[in-house]
Amino acid sequence: MTSLPIRPKGATGLPDAFGRVARDLRVSVTDRCNLRCTYCMPAEGLPWMSKPEMLTDEEMLRLVGVFVGLGITQIRLTGGEPLLRRSIVELVSGMASLSPRPRIAMTTNGVGLERVAAGLASAGLDRVNVSLDTVDREEFKKLTLRDRFADVERGLKAAADAGLSPVKVNAVAMRGFNDHSVADLLQWCLDRGYHLRFIEQMPLDAQHAWQREQMVSAAEVRAELEQHFRLSEPPGERGSAPAELFLVDGGPETVGIIASVSAPFCAACDRVRLTADGQVRNCLFARGEADLRTPLRDGASDEELAALIQDEMWRKAKGHGIGGPGFTQPDRPMSSIGG
Ligand SMILES: C[S@@+](CC[C@H](N)C(=O)[O-])C[C@H]1O[C@@H](n2cnc3c(N)ncnc32)[C@H](O)[C@@H]1O
Repeated sequence: MTSLPIRPKGATGLPDAFGRVARDLRVSVTDRCNLRCTYCMPAEGLPWMSKPEMLTDEEMLRLVGVFVGLGITQIRLTGGEPLLRRSIVELVSGMASLSPRPRIAMTTNGVGLERVAAGLASAGLDRVNVSLDTVDREEFKKLTLRDRFADVERGLKAAADAGLSPVKVNAVAMRGFNDHSVADLLQWCLDRGYHLRFIEQMPLDAQHAWQREQMVSAAEVRAELEQHFRLSEPPGERGSAPAELFLVDGGPETVGIIASVSAPFCAACDRVRLTADGQVRNCLFARGEADLRTPLRDGASDEELAALIQDEMWRKAKGHGIGGPGFTQPDRPMSSIGG
C-alpha cells in the first residue's frame, strides 16, 4: 500500500488525497428497520444500537453543523429506516435552519411516509428517494418478509402530493426474486411520474452472503429492460452522478442504472457519511472510521471536531476495491452505515 501525502496545513473544506472534495453528507439517523430485505439483513433483525450509543438530536445537529461549515451542501438522511426515528421532522427542521442552508434529501423504504410526508416537506425536506424493488405484492413479501407494499404505494403518492419532487424510486435487482419483473417496475413508475434507478447489489449485507456471480449486473438489467423499452443515452455530460441515465422510448422519461460494482464511479465520489453512533466514514467500504461521539461528549470544540473530520477524509481510498485482491467487506452492514 502506498502512503498518502501529508494533509496540507490550513486546508479548508473536505478534500482527500486524490483531489476529490466531499460536499454530500449521508447521515444515518438509526440502524433499525421495519423491513427485512433479504439482501440486507437476516429475518430476525440485528443487535440494534442502544440509546446511549446513539447521538441525541442535539449532538447530531451540532455535528451536521460542523460538516456544513466544512463545505457540505447536500445532506441525505438515511438508516436503517430514517422514519423510525421519532424526531425525524425536528431533525429536518434543525438541518434546514443551518447556514448556509444545505439541500436535504431522504432515502426511505416509504412504509411510514404517508403519515409524515407533508410534515417533512414543511420542515424543509427537499426530495425523497423511496426504495422499492418490485410492484408485485407477493414478490414484495418474499423480498422484504413484510406485507407492506400498499403502505409504500401510499407513501409514494403522499410524497408526490407534498411536493417532494422529483420522487425517485431506487431498486435492487435480485436473481430469482425480481430480476424478471424489472420492466413492470419501470412501467409502474413511468405511469406515476416517479424516476426509477436500479443499483447493483453490493457486498454490504449483514449476512456476508454476497457473491459476485449471483449479482444481477447493470448490463443484465439494461438487457432485460430493452426487451420491453427502447433505451437511449441522453445528450450531455454525465457529471458526478452515479446513475447512468437512459431515455425511455425517446424520452423525456428516463431510467437510471447504477453500476456501483461493475463500473465504479469512485473517481467522482463526493460523499462522506456520519453514522447514528457518531462515526465518520469516508466510504461505504471503508475499513476504518473516526469517532466523533467521544470527543463531542468530552467537550471538544467545533474546530477540533472539524479537524478530526478533515483527517478522516484525507484517508479516503482511491476506490472501493470490490473484486480486488485485498478487498474485505466492512464489518458494519449497510443498515448501520446508512445506504
Ligand atoms: C439500507 S437502505 C436505508 C434507507 C431505507 N431504509 C430504505 O429502504 O431506503 C438504503 C438503500 O440501500 C439498499 N441496499 C441495502 N443493501 C444493499 C446492498 N447490499 N447492495 C445495494 N443496495 C443495498 C436498499 O435497497 C435501499 O435502497
